[in-house]
Formats: sequence, C-alpha cells, structure tokens
Amino acid sequence: MNELKVNQIIKGDNLKTLSKIKKPIVNLTITSPHYRNAIDYDMHVKHGNDPKKNYRGKLKTEVKEYLDEVTKLFDEVKRVTVAGGYCCIIIGNEIDKGTLIALPALLTTRLIKSGWELHEEIIWHKVTGGANRAGSFVQHPYPSYFRANIMHEKILVFRKGPNKLRRDMGYAFTNLNSKLYNEIANSVWHIAPVPPGYIDHPCPYPEEIPYRLISLYTYPGDVVLDPYNGSGQTTKLAKYLGRKYLGLDNQEKYVRLAKKRLREPLNVRTESLVLDFDEEKEIPRWKKIPTGNLNTLKNYK
Ligand SMILES: C[S@@+](CC[C@H](N)C(=O)[O-])C[C@H]1O[C@@H](n2cnc3c(N)ncnc32)[C@H](O)[C@@H]1O
Repeated sequence: MNELKVNQIIKGDNLKTLSKIKKPIVNLTITSPHYRNAIDYDMHVKHGNDPKKNYRGKLKTEVKEYLDEVTKLFDEVKRVTVAGGYCCIIIGNEIDKGTLIALPALLTTRLIKSGWELHEEIIWHKVTGGANRAGSFVQHPYPSYFRANIMHEKILVFRKGPNKLRRDMGYAFTNLNSKLYNEIANSVWHIAPVPPGYIDHPCPYPEEIPYRLISLYTYPGDVVLDPYNGSGQTTKLAKYLGRKYLGLDNQEKYVRLAKKRLREPLNVRTESLVLDFDEEKEIPRWKKIPTGNLNTLKNYK
C-alpha cells in the first residue's frame, strides 16, 4: 500500500518523502535539481533579493559529491516510475574558475550506468538571456579571450525500460498553432526565461517547458512528479492539464508559493518565437507566431 497520496505539494527532503511510495506510480518526472554552488536556497529564503546578503556563488560542494547525491535521488525516482515512464531533467553546464563543468554530460553517464535509458536530448535555447561571459572579448577581441555567452541548458529525457507507445487517448496537443507544432518537433527549443523577480524563487523555468513535456509524454490522469519543485511550475502545469501531481521541496517558503500558484491562471506566453525559412530571400529568419488557444482548457479550476 502506498502511504503517499498524489495531488499534493509536500515539504521535506525528497529522498525521505519518496521512500514512502511503495510501488511505481509515476508516469513522468520533470525537474531541475538544485544548483551545485551557484545558489544558496537557505540564504534566498531568509534574505530574498537583498544585495548585501547575496545568495549566489556561496556554496562549496565538490562535483563528485553533487553527482552522488543527485544520482541517488534519480535512482529513487526510477524505483517509483512505472515501466516505460519518463524523467526529464533540465540542467546546464557550470563554470568553475574559468573551466566548464559539463554537468548534463556527467549526469547522463551516471544515470545510464544506473539503468535509465537516454530517450531524448533537447537544447533549451534561452533566446533573451543566459550567463553573459563575452564582455572582455568584446573589449579585447584577441584570440583566446573568447568565452561564449551561455545561452542554453539541456533537457535530458530518460526512460525506464523499453518505450511503450500509447495512442489510447488522442493526440498530444489539440489546440496548438501548427507552426509551433513543427518547432516543438525539433531538438532545439527557443523559449525566453522567466524575467528576474517575476516569481519569488531564484530559478524557476518557464511554464512553456512543463507545458510541452507533459503534453508530449503523458495523458490526462497520469501522475507527474517534481522532486525539486521550487516555485511549482511543474505542479501548476500538471494540474492545469488534468494530470495528477506530486511536488516535493525542503523549503517551507517555496512549498507555500507552489501551492498558491496552483490557483493562479496559466502564464504560458501567447506568442512564440520560431525560426522560419524565407523562400523568397532564401534566408532563415526569426518570426513571432501566436501560440494557439491554450487558455481555454476546461479542466482548470
Ligand atoms: C533549481 S530549483 C527548482 C526550480 C523549479 N524547477 C521551478 O521552476 O521553480 C531546486 C529546488 O530544489 C529544492 N531542494 C534542494 N534540495 C532538496 C532536497 N534534498 N529535497 C527537496 N527539495 C530540495 C530547493 O529548495 C529548490 O527550490
């Protein structure tokens, strides 16, 4: 018997909370693990955006220690995932004293070793933002001064066991602009990040990401988990799309925020950026298109 009910956002350590689930019930996990050193969540909870109590870059966790901890969590996620279920992890490279730490690649190697299958790899192109590093190259454009602005994170999609094709309840999207449908079929997604200060959490991903992933990998009634739930983008979209949800976070403040956000209207952007090919000029160009009629879903209360 499972001791944990779904449709909840629970405060506590994710490993401990997941241990209360006795048999596989999760169809899809969407999550972004805590940053290794970039963000001190305790500090953000206590002092918010106070510049004198900056919560950025304060921690000192070794890469191995971080990977050990996160791999243990995703082992537990695998245990509670149904056969053929998916786990989507949004994670970017880090910079440590001028050297890139390829966390998506390192974590992929670990999770394949522990039994997940790598199903898909999508690049989230942040379009309007990212870590800006090119300043000194712009001022001193010598060879070797070049450091690329980091404009992307990876969306790693893992699968538990063989792929189980499902066509029992219709298509993934019912009211999406067909041009955007084609764009989502590509392995690079162009989505602007949440503007700073818009949500009271240091690193929410935009609602478009769980919107797409939930639509692509589940049907209504399926269970969607976020073990690092933060501001609750995953749980909000799961509820909106008529899925069951389970969100876990060890900070009381974020749990309260995520619960409140379950009752807020959808905030998926009404316009999306797509790369279009101009046949006349024979060049690709950016184009803004209406997303589609997403806000009319009936099951959202
Ligand atoms: C990168 S943020 C997730 C942001 C989230 N995806 C969103 O869109 O708002 C990571 C979250 O994990 C939480 N966290 C870190 N360690 C945890 C643990 N052991 N158990 C539960 N939550 C944890 C932090 O409080 C933080 O809110």
